[in-house]
Amino acid sequence: MNERISPPAAAIQGSHCTPEQYEALYRQSVEQPDAFWAEQAKRLDWFKAPTEIANWSFDPVDIRWYEDGVLNLCHNCVDRHLPERGDQVALLWEGDEPGVTRSLTYRQLHAEVVRMANVLKTQGVKKGDRVTLYLPMILEAAVAMLACARIGAVHSVVFGGFSPEALRGRIEDCRSRIVVTADGGMRGGKVVPLKANVDAALDGGPEVDAVLVIRHCRNDVAMMEGRDRWYDEVAADASDDCPCEPMNAEDPLFILYTSGSTGKPKGVLHTTGGYAVWTALTFHYVFDYRPGEMFWCTADVGWVTGHSYVVYGPLANGATSLMFEGVPNYPDCSRFWDMVERHKVNIFYTAPTAIRALAREGEAPVKKHDRSSIRILGTVGEPINPQAWLWYWRVVGDERCPIVDTWWQTETGGIMITTLPGAHDMKPGSAGKPFFGIVPELLDAEGKARGGAAEGNLCMATSWPGQMRTVYGDHERFVQTYFSAYRGHYFSGDGCRRDDDGYYWITGRVDDVINVSGHRMGTAEVESALVSHKLVAESAVVGYPHDIKGQGIYCYVTLIAGEEPSDALETELRQHVRKEIGPIATPDLIHFTPALPKTRSGKIMRRILRKIAENEYGSLGDTSTLADPGLVDSLIEGRRNR
Ligand code: WT7
Repeated sequence: MNERISPPAAAIQGSHCTPEQYEALYRQSVEQPDAFWAEQAKRLDWFKAPTEIANWSFDPVDIRWYEDGVLNLCHNCVDRHLPERGDQVALLWEGDEPGVTRSLTYRQLHAEVVRMANVLKTQGVKKGDRVTLYLPMILEAAVAMLACARIGAVHSVVFGGFSPEALRGRIEDCRSRIVVTADGGMRGGKVVPLKANVDAALDGGPEVDAVLVIRHCRNDVAMMEGRDRWYDEVAADASDDCPCEPMNAEDPLFILYTSGSTGKPKGVLHTTGGYAVWTALTFHYVFDYRPGEMFWCTADVGWVTGHSYVVYGPLANGATSLMFEGVPNYPDCSRFWDMVERHKVNIFYTAPTAIRALAREGEAPVKKHDRSSIRILGTVGEPINPQAWLWYWRVVGDERCPIVDTWWQTETGGIMITTLPGAHDMKPGSAGKPFFGIVPELLDAEGKARGGAAEGNLCMATSWPGQMRTVYGDHERFVQTYFSAYRGHYFSGDGCRRDDDGYYWITGRVDDVINVSGHRMGTAEVESALVSHKLVAESAVVGYPHDIKGQGIYCYVTLIAGEEPSDALETELRQHVRKEIGPIATPDLIHFTPALPKTRSGKIMRRILRKIAENEYGSLGDTSTLADPGLVDSLIEGRRNR
């Protein structure tokens, strides 16, 4: 499909970027990057303005932006807005129960951030220290992130849906001495026992100096003497003065763990100046944000989307950002549209998986709510199929609202490929055009760039300010993962097609990473969770097409000698993976098999397993190198029975 849809004139009247402006700015951004990025840095307040702008190399790998600049991102997101918008709502929060709301004006946000910053200081946190945040979607999550940024501490937010095991690994990896959590979080009417999970993560594991507990659900929790403190009690005596720490542009801002194709999750490290410019700039242009508008990104702050487009991007622009604790189908599947109506949301940004799930419920839950406040719609996290795109366009947006399909990654800090509402036609299913400063390249297996309309591995030829700088504690892994497949290029891990009009169509991951409901999952992680079960000998995990989730988790499992598959064991393995990683990693299909297809040298032939899981038996390719070619037929037989 190559349908073109023009942005409706009313929605983009007075937009920040016309087609001509896009062309001119894009050209300048790639032809004179230093001039372009020096100018864009002026979006921020600097204690010392940078004179060095871009200084990077992909071979050897060394990436620096604005390296002699000094700034503080909390100052830019909070303090600097006080004179003009102290009384404007910065963050509006709605809890799991409809209509339960709280808000913070910029002035109130300032007071809360200062208080939290001083509490962290009294717990001994200093510039450069890592602080783990394991929180529900409550205002304090944003406050804690900003408080860390204020004092120069490096936050590591761990999504509240991750298991104690996963949390422990992340606390250990960055050696944080402080954990900020809550008694619990609410999702769909149920309490998520966050504090109990922290207790389990720390039990016999990493030693920390303090666990600060925010009172939220008022569920029962155990408090460990000497280690655990109620945040409100410590905060009561906190001083209301805390200057912003001057940070070098290249000082670390945060670590965020993400899954790769091998081994344990990587700590993606972002630094201060470049990330700040990138999120501020992309927010302004991609969402065409106008003063006073209500912006709602439905992502959790445990993901990069929440970092960049719930907290930092909107607040750096002095916007009003809506935070939602709950889920799209509680108390029923009209919740999003109910909130859009009540809070007069102008810009709405969500994931294709949510759109597909809601589309299945029909039009009525959408149509019964007034959505006339919406001006721009956005999606992120996975490819959106044209059918879901058209539903979003037609039913949610009434064919009135431009849709931005934004491609980016944890590693990129912010949006990289997208249309801009006022500048581009849309094509359902295509992310669109490169953002300013972005030079995508489609490389073939030999590393040759393919020009014009072509398909290949999506790489970046040049750096951009929001790029991650290293894998925390393992720079070699950073180099290996992103810069070794194609020397001198950043390799995204995605496949992509470019059409005659220069639009990019993301085709999905080409590595062993799968995308389940917009959550990134390393197949190797699920495999190691499975084989940690005492009855499992071996496993291979692949993705397969799933109507709602995009991809589902398909697990081939072989048992140790003498064990027989059973429904009970299947359930147990499912539970086991949930416990090891978290509910988002729950296997969709478990396929017991006596053996996995291997080459004579013992390498698992994942290509074949992927095809079988996808129900594509016609194109299995060469199976002659298999040690046991007969196995393929029995695997197909097993797949058909599912
Ligand atoms: C992977 C990155 C970026 C924040 C959320 C996910 C996939 C992301 C799109 C899109 C097609 C997309 C890619 C990418 N992806 N956005 N608009 N169209 N695919 O961040 O967890 O780091 O995952 O998500 O495969 O590599 P992440």
